[in-house]
Amino acid sequence: MKRSHPYPGFLIAIEGIDGAGKTTQAHHLQSYLQNNRKQEVVRTKEPTTRQWGQILRDSAVTGRLSAKEEMELFIKDRREHVETVIKPSLLAGLVVIVDRYYFSSMAYQGCRGIDPEEIRRLNEEFAPEPDLLVYLDIDPKMGLERIKTRGDRANHFENTGTLKKAREIFMGINKPYLYKIDALQNAENITKLIVNELTVRMVDVVADSGVSPKDKLEKTLNLFGGKLES
Ligand code: TYD
Repeated sequence: MKRSHPYPGFLIAIEGIDGAGKTTQAHHLQSYLQNNRKQEVVRTKEPTTRQWGQILRDSAVTGRLSAKEEMELFIKDRREHVETVIKPSLLAGLVVIVDRYYFSSMAYQGCRGIDPEEIRRLNEEFAPEPDLLVYLDIDPKMGLERIKTRGDRANHFENTGTLKKAREIFMGINKPYLYKIDALQNAENITKLIVNELTVRMVDVVADSGVSPKDKLEKTLNLFGGKLES
């Protein structure tokens, strides 16, 4: 598969509606890669807690902005996130796990009448496409149940009607790097599925790189925390 960006690092985006278990999986994946694969990982999320992200987070509690204003703020927040965290980490050859990315804008701002394809196009002008996009699929009712049982209250972005539409948009995304998972399975099993898919894709990236067979072997061993004998 052709690479989706020119950087040496590896970008993983985890998406899904609220209550799908994205944050849990982002944590598990990070621990697995650090402990079992000796890889350096940056875990990050959107909206961020920086200036633009914070306005969006506040609006989830106090009341939503207009669709256009919201869209513009998500783009400003993401631009800053890409420039200050995502690109530098990818340039340094790290694994970046992002908990929500521009596919959330397609789904959630798409629900409010903005064309999801237009949202995709605007974002792909500046945001690197991921190497792996994990979409955790869950029925909105179950998602909202989970939010309640973890003791949280649904915010203004989260009601069954909106989430049903958001799920439809997520399900309609068509990308070669997309990997859909049924989010109702047990969390450990989901982590294993993600790790296996990720391994296949990482090995594929090394195999496609134009380096010598010995370097390919070295790079592949590196993925598993190993080295050639010296
Ligand atoms: P969420 O992941 O729930 O943040 P946290 O778990 O830290 O509270 O994100 C907050 C809301 O933002 C979520 O309901 C979905 C929404 N959202 C968008 O509408 N568009 C976007 O582009 C992103 C990244 C999030």
